[in-house]
Amino acid sequence: MRTIAVLNQKGGVGKTSTSVNLGAGLTRQKQRVLLLDLDPQAHLTYSLGIMAHELPRTMGAVLMEECQLADVATEVNEMDVVPASVSLAGTEVDLAGVLSRETRLKTALSEIDDYDFVIMDCPPNLGLLTLNAMTAATELLVPMQPEFLALQSLGKLMETVKAIQNGWNPDLKLTGVVMTRYHRHKRLNRETRRSIKEYFGDALLETTIRDNISLAEAPSFGQDIFNYKPRSNGADDYRNLALELLRRGAP
Ligand SMILES: Nc1ncnc2c1ncn2[C@@H]1O[C@H](COP(=O)(O)OP(=O)(O)O)[C@@H](O)[C@H]1O
Ligand SMILES: [Mg+2]
Repeated sequence: MRTIAVLNQKGGVGKTSTSVNLGAGLTRQKQRVLLLDLDPQAHLTYSLGIMAHELPRTMGAVLMEECQLADVATEVNEMDVVPASVSLAGTEVDLAGVLSRETRLKTALSEIDDYDFVIMDCPPNLGLLTLNAMTAATELLVPMQPEFLALQSLGKLMETVKAIQNGWNPDLKLTGVVMTRYHRHKRLNRETRRSIKEYFGDALLETTIRDNISLAEAPSFGQDIFNYKPRSNGADDYRNLALELLRRGAP
């Protein structure tokens, strides 16, 4: 079972799009996928058309040890999804005061072994929910946009990752950085890609996710890109990302 945290403390870089569409891409390669929504904004949950407010229990209940992941997982597009609701913000506050607050998700995941991939969509900060993901995961996938200050915020992220590796999770590895919303024809995009390549070497994935309007539209229909527009650049790119992760294997 490969457990991947999709994270970047910047918002709007494509974490949620990548979690949903990589998950869907892997499912199409016959992998069994579990998606975890760890963001109180619940964008992953809404993008898959799940009505979290109608559910009795979501991610927060798992972290407060009121139930197990399997109790709240719901099936969408042949993937299993553990949804979040806005109440997860309150859970994060409550968690701060409990024992083993950094390892709640790791403990919950230890009850589960029936998936090939567990993909965790993190919130845009390095708080306790993200910390739980970094402690529970063995792999990190970092989506980033090719823009001027992107490298600077990655520096901060890598410091945090090192601290986690030296503490709660020595097994954590960077599987890759994936560029999102990429425009091949923009010089700034190509230059940023080059400097990311210098900094990360092989950890910069070959697949880039192009800017593609269908990727922005799909969530409003509660669909992943393969259901919504199977013949789009977005579907091609996320298929390639799924294949690249399978080809590379766990780091
Ligand atoms: N490759 C892409 N092309 C066009 N729009 C995209 C692409 N990736 C993401 N988006 C859109 O950009 C916005 C932010 O993406 P999202 O995945 O929610 O980022 P994050 O989870 O990091 O905040 C969303 O409206 C999403 O639909
Ligand atoms: Mg998001």
